[in-house]
Amino acid sequence: MKKYKHSEITPELIYNKRRKFIKSIGLGVGSISLSSIPFLNTAYSQNKTELTSYEDITSYNNYYEFGTGKKDPFKNSQEFKTKPWIVTIEGEVDNPITLSAEEIISLFPSEERVYKLRCVEGWSMVIPWMGFSLSKLLSKVSIKNTAKFVEFESVYDPDQMKGQRYPVLNWPYREGLRIDEAMHPITTVVTGLYGKALPNQNGAPLRIFVPWKYGFKSAKAIVKIKLVKKMPTSSWMRSSPREYGFYSNVNPNVSHPRWSQATERVIGEGILAPRIETEMFNGYGDEVANLYSGMNLKINF
Ligand code: MTE
Repeated sequence: MKKYKHSEITPELIYNKRRKFIKSIGLGVGSISLSSIPFLNTAYSQNKTELTSYEDITSYNNYYEFGTGKKDPFKNSQEFKTKPWIVTIEGEVDNPITLSAEEIISLFPSEERVYKLRCVEGWSMVIPWMGFSLSKLLSKVSIKNTAKFVEFESVYDPDQMKGQRYPVLNWPYREGLRIDEAMHPITTVVTGLYGKALPNQNGAPLRIFVPWKYGFKSAKAIVKIKLVKKMPTSSWMRSSPREYGFYSNVNPNVSHPRWSQATERVIGEGILAPRIETEMFNGYGDEVANLYSGMNLKINF
């Protein structure tokens, strides 16, 4: 597996300089490999070469608890209180634990992880996340071997989240992973982005990020992680099982019933920019394809 870059908190100015540098050497069209560029020395190997701007990452969001429009999460989440915040890890474990978000953030040092988010709607962003492997957090609870899946639960707080006053989804937002997917080192607990604390609209104080799956697998504002015996039913599976399967691996060969998944629009490139080809597993096949060997990914979509 490729190495992540461990960085201290890096000011946005430096990121912007690096972005300009990458642009100026014409990365992507030349023969320089992405991994030879120090700051992209991460599990990122895409045809996309530039980080999405902080502005786009934090103002074009999906977060139905705050509304279904792309600008709604930014507009409606600014007053959202993320303190105090408690996360429980329970279920098929010998040692269930309850930790505050602050404890989690201080127990597990965050590192920079540049990953692409590919939304099921057909757009993508390249995001310099801050975070750490979920497996580190899960190592605290002594998982029983009866645990086969992990269920994530986002916060339920209709007083603060006006989207939850409407049955747009089955609240609270729930997602799940198979245990080996959850334990994979690139499955990340996100604590920030662009070297700063995680903005509310991106899932503060803690969210999950699963680089090789469609964005909706990455639950925001998590309060519960439950180790379970059976495959959990996610909110999206419940709302439309024909469209959203449990696996939801990025797969250009399996169309969403209502649109193709072969290409994606790069956020920030302007409406006229050509779409780029979507890669199998969002470009992280070297890391994760072995998790699915022998599985039919058209049936297990
Ligand atoms: N988590 C919660 N709790 N609620 C949501 O509506 N939307 C998902 C995912 N996590 C969502 C969520 C979807 S559809 C996507 S594409 C990503 O968050 C978007 O993450 P971003 O806004 O940080 O880009």
